[in-house]
Amino acid sequence: MRKRSFLFLALGLMCFSALSAQVRREFLLDKGWKFTREDDSLSYGAAFDDSRWQSVTVPHDWAIYGPFNPNNDKQNVAIVQDGQVEPSEHAGRTGGLPFVGTGWYRTRFSVPEAAGDHSKRVTLIFDGAMSDAHVWVNGKFVGVWPYGYNSFYFDVTPYLNPDDKDNVLAVRLENLPESSRWYPGAGLYRNVHVQVTNEAHIPVWGTFVTTPVVTDAYAKVNLKTEVSLPEGASAERFRLETVVRDSAGNEVAKAVSKLTPFDDHTFTQELVVENPMRWDLDNPVLYTAESQLFDGDRAVDTYTTPFGIRTIEIRPNDGFYLNGRKTVFQGVCNHHDLGPLGAAVNDAAIRRQVRIMKDMGVNAIRTSHNMPAPELVRACDEMGMMLMVETFDEWKSPKCQNGYNRLFDDWAEKDLVNVVRHYRNAPSVVMWCIGNEVPEQGMEHGAKVARWLQDIVHREDPTRPVTQGMDNPGAVINNNFAAVMDVAGFNYRPFMYPENYRKLPQQIILGSETASTVSSRGVYKFPVVRAAMKTYPDHQASSYDVEHCGWSNLPEDDFIQHEDLPYTIGEFVWTGFDYLGEPTPYYTNWPSHSSLFGIVDLAGIPKDRYYLYRSHWNPSAETLHVLPHWSWPEERIGDTIPVFVYTNYPSAELFINGVSQGVRTKDTTIQLEGSYTPEAQASFERQKRYRLMWMDTRYEPGTIRVVAYDSTGRAVAEQEVHTAGKPHHIELTADRSVLDASGKDLAFISVRVVDKDGNLCPDDTRQIRFKVKGAGTYRAAANGNPASLELFHLPQMKLFSGQLTAIVQSGEEPGEILFEATAPGVKGAKLKLQSK
Ligand code: GAL
Repeated sequence: MRKRSFLFLALGLMCFSALSAQVRREFLLDKGWKFTREDDSLSYGAAFDDSRWQSVTVPHDWAIYGPFNPNNDKQNVAIVQDGQVEPSEHAGRTGGLPFVGTGWYRTRFSVPEAAGDHSKRVTLIFDGAMSDAHVWVNGKFVGVWPYGYNSFYFDVTPYLNPDDKDNVLAVRLENLPESSRWYPGAGLYRNVHVQVTNEAHIPVWGTFVTTPVVTDAYAKVNLKTEVSLPEGASAERFRLETVVRDSAGNEVAKAVSKLTPFDDHTFTQELVVENPMRWDLDNPVLYTAESQLFDGDRAVDTYTTPFGIRTIEIRPNDGFYLNGRKTVFQGVCNHHDLGPLGAAVNDAAIRRQVRIMKDMGVNAIRTSHNMPAPELVRACDEMGMMLMVETFDEWKSPKCQNGYNRLFDDWAEKDLVNVVRHYRNAPSVVMWCIGNEVPEQGMEHGAKVARWLQDIVHREDPTRPVTQGMDNPGAVINNNFAAVMDVAGFNYRPFMYPENYRKLPQQIILGSETASTVSSRGVYKFPVVRAAMKTYPDHQASSYDVEHCGWSNLPEDDFIQHEDLPYTIGEFVWTGFDYLGEPTPYYTNWPSHSSLFGIVDLAGIPKDRYYLYRSHWNPSAETLHVLPHWSWPEERIGDTIPVFVYTNYPSAELFINGVSQGVRTKDTTIQLEGSYTPEAQASFERQKRYRLMWMDTRYEPGTIRVVAYDSTGRAVAEQEVHTAGKPHHIELTADRSVLDASGKDLAFISVRVVDKDGNLCPDDTRQIRFKVKGAGTYRAAANGNPASLELFHLPQMKLFSGQLTAIVQSGEEPGEILFEATAPGVKGAKLKLQSK
């Protein structure tokens, strides 16, 4: 017995001394949190008894578990930017979920290496906390960060227990009603890190890499490294050794620098990388700068900065250039929520979104209208996706009564500094966006505020252009508001680009937000006519992609501008994915509570529109997509059911049960000029340049077949859609079959009901039940119906248009995961996954 405890003691000491020998350590506070929604003002106290609180892991979104209720943040307002004059009740505007109110989180953490070592520094880093975070350590108040989307950190060294064991961290969060225009999420929805360093160290986000010269032969890499030094320590004691490594880990450059008293605590190192590999969309090569800080001969810190070597440039009257290659933004705007997972950050879910967007041909994401999670930036760095990082939906003038306007004066600069320092080394970030449709657009002092914010960004990062999304062209092209920006970004009204261009000095126009076309996956409305703000009793919108908002338009109305006007540099479509909240045009129509704007639905399933964008944006991949489904009720036989084809090929022929309905060819003669008359709008003039449409086809059950022809008239591809028979069985497909046994990895399983031959039953809405056994657990499901009140985390859900997505999470033990889906009246299905 005594021998054993001696062994433990020895092992403990060894671990302890290994820890204290480390110069830097970082770990996540993810497990072992306690959470409550009761607002007990004593909860910050170290001795407070939280044993009866709920046990949770972080990232955690307290509101995503529902229940949905129209009274959750019911906003009785007029949405001025949507043209509303009288207030009305907007029940689902922020998702109908219970995010408003207070939440407390508590956990314990130990920093054994800091025990008795007064030179250690302990920093807590929050990737984001929704919102108004108040932080205590061991009952002592540490600090506050109000904006829920930003990352922030606190040096908590002075608050730690003398033995550095069992430090109690308490965080109070509060969300106000009418503080958002979409679902913000609630709680510690992003990661919390503990960072332990020596007293002399490189602070959080303390490096800045730029590549001022990039040629095929060499790249100059400029690295600025800030250091925090013990009080009174003379600068000359310190030295920084930096090694740059390529993606295979080979050393490609090295610099050793001494600090002088005139360096203002910042090392500046110039390194040369020969034959540099560029970070690019198809080959996102990353380098790392590994810096070691020495105090005399003793290494006191190490800091790794991943970065990319690439150039960006905007050429007036020409375009945006990435690595010297003209690159048009084929972008999407996305909100931060991950559908059924809510705002709780998950790496696998984010990477799946980026994968889906890349397949569609997207090359850039706008993080509307706020700072992204670090996981998204990392995924874009590693996967080759550009980012336009946005910060605010409001400045000082309110859009929501309790929005950012309350914080603007005191926090705008601090918020900008944090986001720019956090992400300025990320090669994926190519532009900053300081605002979205702020009311200051129409105010006399607005241009001055814009300039102030832009100057802060330039001070923190002189290498990237700054833009903002403006939706009031009438004002901003006449009052200097648009003229002060590096890049003039316009939201909607593409037909005004020429006038905006004529009046502005930049000679470049960005479609910072476009389209806002609305549709529901698998739902088709008749007759097929172009319509604005159209509503239906079923709370859906037509998947013929012909409906939009009062201020917005259809995808092709933007395509044509960006193809034909030489000074447009591309667009960011509203939105890539559906999101919780903002169920426009169903403002007052509970249970509508999630958006219809997405090219992909809330379950991550592509809508028809996905293939329209793919055919235009990813021309090297074959797209041949036919809509609608061909399984209509008998009474529809003989009715006109138009058929649309989205393809990268120039023409196609349609056959219904073997009978040709004629060949359609994309009409490239259609020009901007003349295409905006009411008649041209109604007859889908601009659409004819990009989609193939058979408007008069009549329904008869059977098969529709589409044969695509290349430009020489050769038949090159075929697609068939069959009338589905009776629902027969469930079909399952996972996006990934091998998961990481991290306890956090996710598989997204497509669940469909099909007939005996595998044809989708496109009207099926039966409820599916899920079971997960083995090395994983059931996490959530979504069906993409913006009016469904089913709770995401329960192991059952109704199909929407025959489909849904279920999500399985890996455990921490490797093994096999068995997923099972069953439903009355059809044969169930099982799927095996591996967790390694
Ligand atoms: C824009 C706004 C977006 C979203 C969109 C819906 O005006 O920037 O946040 O509200 O409209 O069309």
